[in-house]
Amino acid sequence: MSASPAAQKRPSPEQAAACFARLKQAIIDRTGHHYYADKDALLRDRLDRRVAATGCRGLPDYLSLLGQPVAGPVEWQELEAEVTIGETFFFRHTEQFDALRRVILPGIIAHNAATRSLRIWSAGCAVGAEPYSVAILLEQLLGERMRHWTIDIVGSDISQRALAQARDGRFSNWALRGMPEDRKAQDFVPCEDRRQWRIIDRHRRHVRFRQHNLLSLLDGAKGPDDARDGDCRGFDLILCRNVLIYFSPERIAPMLAALGRCLSPQGWLMVGHSDAIAALPAELRIVELPGTIVFRPPGPDAPAVTPPAPQHAAPQPTASETWAARRPTANPSPAAVVAGIAEPPVATIRALADAGRLRSASEACAAAIAAYPLDPRLHFYDGVIAQAAGQRTHAEAALRRAIYLSGEMVMAHYHLGLLLLDGATPEAGRRVMTHVAKLCGALPETHVLPESDGLSPRDLIERIGMRLRARRPAREV
Ligand SMILES: C[S@@+](CC[C@H](N)C(=O)[O-])C[C@H]1O[C@@H](n2cnc3c(N)ncnc32)[C@H](O)[C@@H]1O
Repeated sequence: MSASPAAQKRPSPEQAAACFARLKQAIIDRTGHHYYADKDALLRDRLDRRVAATGCRGLPDYLSLLGQPVAGPVEWQELEAEVTIGETFFFRHTEQFDALRRVILPGIIAHNAATRSLRIWSAGCAVGAEPYSVAILLEQLLGERMRHWTIDIVGSDISQRALAQARDGRFSNWALRGMPEDRKAQDFVPCEDRRQWRIIDRHRRHVRFRQHNLLSLLDGAKGPDDARDGDCRGFDLILCRNVLIYFSPERIAPMLAALGRCLSPQGWLMVGHSDAIAALPAELRIVELPGTIVFRPPGPDAPAVTPPAPQHAAPQPTASETWAARRPTANPSPAAVVAGIAEPPVATIRALADAGRLRSASEACAAAIAAYPLDPRLHFYDGVIAQAAGQRTHAEAALRRAIYLSGEMVMAHYHLGLLLLDGATPEAGRRVMTHVAKLCGALPETHVLPESDGLSPRDLIERIGMRLRARRPAREV
């Protein structure tokens, strides 16, 4: 795309600054990403990438391109993909998936037994790990019965680029890091390059993807299916996790209320742990489950449900916590959550890696290590990124550095164990895993392992057990 002749002159610094301010506002208005309000350098970097990709000579030229009747909307899609953060992976936040597995989905299945149909919306689904995880989970719960159910899982996102990847259904090892190896082999097939895995068709056919801007919900409750049948209501479950964190605090309660209106009277709404909810709309009540909270419509239409007994001894809510319509007390403010991302840029590194941009993630990690050489988390991510990229020697050295800096960093030991188990010295890997299990055994059950995306020590011990059993030669089994 070439620049218009009128824009061949370089803009003055004042012009560029005014254009940047207009573009920033336009981006925040269009995507809801208030997140960029105090991140000019980051936004500028992303804009510069689009300016370069389109061949524009500067921000004024780029601004006029966005305003063009035909090329403008196309470029807006590219810009939306550039500025949104698509960090995701399968079965992200174990305790939320435990709540789905043990309480929410069994409840929906029991309630809908007569119609044998269910509707689920993953709003802000990025490249699809979340809706596909739900499809996998439903098959685990329904088993053979799945064939007799009508299951409609819709994944929506503002980013067309993310949706194209979601439809393709291919994922790197990095995106599958929340899955045990044995499950991975059942639910995915390896791609030819052996670096990616494709979700099997049996799961794919339950999930469809639609472009949808969540802000449109605030202009009259338009849902992902509006274009199809005008009906965005009646979802049994809506997941909108790790999306609201980017929105301004004032938008969060109206957005929750709008999502609540898209639920069936018995429906469930789950947001992410970091989606700080400062005010709850009257349309919703809070239900507390072990390790997470969810929202449901209020009133007699949403009867109290007793959660089934957990399959293992997960931390249980106290009587006063159980199913009480309480407001959360100690949620961090969105500003605090966002501020936590700033330095060292661990979240940015993870976001890049989650988006499959391993080279950029590794470069960002190297730069961060130069600035914060003693931060064990950075060496840990350096290691797991190298591990995902197949650079075993680099990965091992980085993980050992993380362990040297923080001997208690359980996830660094665990990843080193995985690396060794898969390499030439599996016995050393087994020894490391035994050590990890010992470290976990010394921690309280309610502890959440840092850099583990919500795993408890018990979860990790289970995972290690599965991993070791999967590798044991047949005669030992
Ligand atoms: C961090 S990802 C979360 C993915 C997934 N829900 C999870 O938790 O793993 C956030 C996603 O929200 C999408 N998003 C951001 N703003 C949006 C909006 N206004 N409407 C729809 N999707 C949006 C982004 O494109 C991105 O893919």
